[in-house]
Amino acid sequence: MIRLKRCIVLVGLMGAGKTSVGRRLADLLKVRFHDTDDAVEEASSMSIPELFESFGEPEFRRLEAAVLGRLLEQAPAVISTGGGAFMQPVVRSLVATQAVSVWLKADVEVLWARVRDKPGRPLLQTDDPFATLLALHEARAPTYATADVTVGSTGVDSQDDVAKAVIRAIGAFDAEAQSPSFERR
Ligand code: S3P
Repeated sequence: MIRLKRCIVLVGLMGAGKTSVGRRLADLLKVRFHDTDDAVEEASSMSIPELFESFGEPEFRRLEAAVLGRLLEQAPAVISTGGGAFMQPVVRSLVATQAVSVWLKADVEVLWARVRDKPGRPLLQTDDPFATLLALHEARAPTYATADVTVGSTGVDSQDDVAKAVIRAIGAFDAEAQSPSFERR
């Protein structure tokens, strides 16, 4: 039996599976699941496309960091973040001190297959959304790679397999960490 002692924060690009894997992970660990995109929508009573449209990306980023800070103060849980959240230094520093971060890493083709027909992502409303996704992937990967743990999200493995791989990877990280994320009983 594993008891979670601090939040697990899932980071990575749109389509990496943060929400679906995060839900499964929370089930396995018997803790709550939160999604910063949902929390931002709830706090603002607006959808993310509406927020971008009415107030712009900077206001979205401010809200995203604020809701994450609030979620991190609650009981240890699994938190899925929007793809740009971890790019904010303020978010990285909050996560570094209060949580364990996990990059769900996927090839851009896998990400594209998952996001191409799904509306609701303002950053992909461009003439060439695949090229935009590729550019985001290249720009952000070095920062995602600073997460405590990296787990592949290949598109072949089930959400259950990826969630279990996350637990194993955090267990291995804990072996070196000063304050472990798991307590085993
Ligand atoms: C964004 C990713 C989205 C959402 C917003 C911006 C990004 O979340 O937060 O559209 O900057 O990559 P998902 O990664 O859950 O799609």
